[in-house]
Amino acid sequence: MAWVNGLQDVVAAGTELSEVNGEVGKLSYRGRAVADLVGHFDYEDVAYLLWYGEMPSAEQKTSLNELFFCGRQAASEVFDVIDHLPPSLDAMNAAAIGLLCMRAQSSDESDARTPAWYTAAFPVLLLRHHANQHGLAKARPDIRAGHVATYLYLLRGGLMPTREEVQALEAYMILTMEHSLNASAFAGRVAASTRANTARALVAALMTMTGPLHGGAPSLVLDMFDAIGSPARVDEWLEQELASGRRLMGFGHRVYRTVDPRAKALYNIAANSLAGQDSLVLAQAVERRAVELLAAAKPGRRLHPNVEYWAACVLRSLDIPHSLFTATFATSRMAGWCAHILEQRQCDKLIRPQAVYVSTR
Ligand code: ACO
Repeated sequence: MAWVNGLQDVVAAGTELSEVNGEVGKLSYRGRAVADLVGHFDYEDVAYLLWYGEMPSAEQKTSLNELFFCGRQAASEVFDVIDHLPPSLDAMNAAAIGLLCMRAQSSDESDARTPAWYTAAFPVLLLRHHANQHGLAKARPDIRAGHVATYLYLLRGGLMPTREEVQALEAYMILTMEHSLNASAFAGRVAASTRANTARALVAALMTMTGPLHGGAPSLVLDMFDAIGSPARVDEWLEQELASGRRLMGFGHRVYRTVDPRAKALYNIAANSLAGQDSLVLAQAVERRAVELLAAAKPGRRLHPNVEYWAACVLRSLDIPHSLFTATFATSRMAGWCAHILEQRQCDKLIRPQAVYVSTR
């Protein structure tokens, strides 16, 4: 029996949630191109679309906003747990602990409120721990604002972001909300297939996102920019990096064989918010040269910037600290993971592939 390392090209599920066309670089959620969603709908609308297959009516939107509000309040009920965690603990781990404690207080797993509650609660828990870690001002999460505006408000200790800032982060969060059977969604589905509860399945997804080959790359992209320093050093630095066998962070993708459509959309946002700044010039120079070098080094592989490359620039333009990049990505993905967990529950089949025993003797 043959097997495929990394399950590359293996079809492991049918999904109605999103379609990724890696050859032409297209991504749609429930049949709607993501590029058409950005700027027209907010995070909550698109989350609802993923969970229930349609945009919310005005009445459904009012209830949805209320559920997000209640989810934030439910998160604040476990602040005593978060406030006792060691500051050295990574914020993603702290938020995971918070989610598991929230679950302990809610008993009905089939409760329709569950996806909105956990999605709303995650950044509240995360940013509470972040504030504790760095001795920052702590804002109360019970504000009547959208999910994305609340994220920036809590991050900044109670300062309301501008409309432009909310638009930029909302675009990022919609673009990165869902991406078919990626590693973290798969992990969440495996956990859900055992009938583990939502909080535990979400934590499985969350922890899978922390590795640099999946969600951990954006801060490494900025480390790369810092190490290069200026456009004059781009060629030398990239050549050395590739010669030493290391991967260039923010390039390549398991599915895309052309430019990642999310990277394209995020580039436009970065180009707008960083116009005239040295950091944009450097990022453009690195992108140009890296694509040339990767094409020469891996002919036929078609390595392009992925979502995390330009995401790093957008997140930096919003003054989101490096240490929260992966966590901000996870904040976007909460809605997608919840959608996968709901879909997996409908299928209700344990995911349990086979392995071939290989003797080493
Ligand atoms: N830099 C240099 N070489 C690369 C890169 C890169 N960024 N990406 C792939 N390659 C090379 C591999 O070393 C491999 O070479 P080999 O055939 O000589 O061994 C070849 O291209 C094929 O790569 P694969 O490993 O088959 O690609 P895979 O589909 O497994 O990996 C991945 C995709 C993990 C994203 C990879 O491109 C990578 O490591 N990129 C850098 C990290 C990164 O940007 N991660 C974020 C991904 S986006 C996301 O998760 C949301």
